[in-house]
Amino acid sequence: MLETGGEDIDLFTGRVDAEKCAQLFRLWIDVDTADTAFICGPEPMMLAIAGALREHGMSDAQIKFELFASAQPGRLKRPAKSVEAARAGNTCTATVTLDGALREFTLPKDGTTLLDAALAADIDAPYACKAGVCSTCRAKVLEGEFEMIANHALDDYEVERGYVLTCQCVPLSDRLVVDYDQ
Ligand code: FES
Repeated sequence: MLETGGEDIDLFTGRVDAEKCAQLFRLWIDVDTADTAFICGPEPMMLAIAGALREHGMSDAQIKFELFASAQPGRLKRPAKSVEAARAGNTCTATVTLDGALREFTLPKDGTTLLDAALAADIDAPYACKAGVCSTCRAKVLEGEFEMIANHALDDYEVERGYVLTCQCVPLSDRLVVDYDQ
């Protein structure tokens, strides 16, 4: 239907942004009837669309992203460095509560994220994008120092309360206590 003439309409040309989403959701797409949204494209565009979908009542679990390696700082190749760091004793002991169960594991302080270390320890930690966008991996840090590599999902007040995106969380202290259930 839009194959001819669509290029003359601003709404159908250029990058999709929050303004275009607002028009699309008003004129073309009923977000309430959608079960899931799949977003693929440049990261700023995906963030804008995800934000617009959230504003229209879609939950993080309903919004799926396709991301590429260059947009995923937490997915660099790090296993060799991890082994080195573990040998040097430069590690953090993480205690994680998930679904009421307490688990402990060690992760190297070499940029390995808490989520990747938890998954490597066979913990069924939640995640979707692994890029700091969807907040599926959110947990609360109860003890310890950490750094978030990227944060496109948590509001300032959540960060102030100790919430973290575990896919972007690298430990700075020797001990981290994290709760996924809060
Ligand atoms: S898995 Fe999406 S923000 Fe961490």
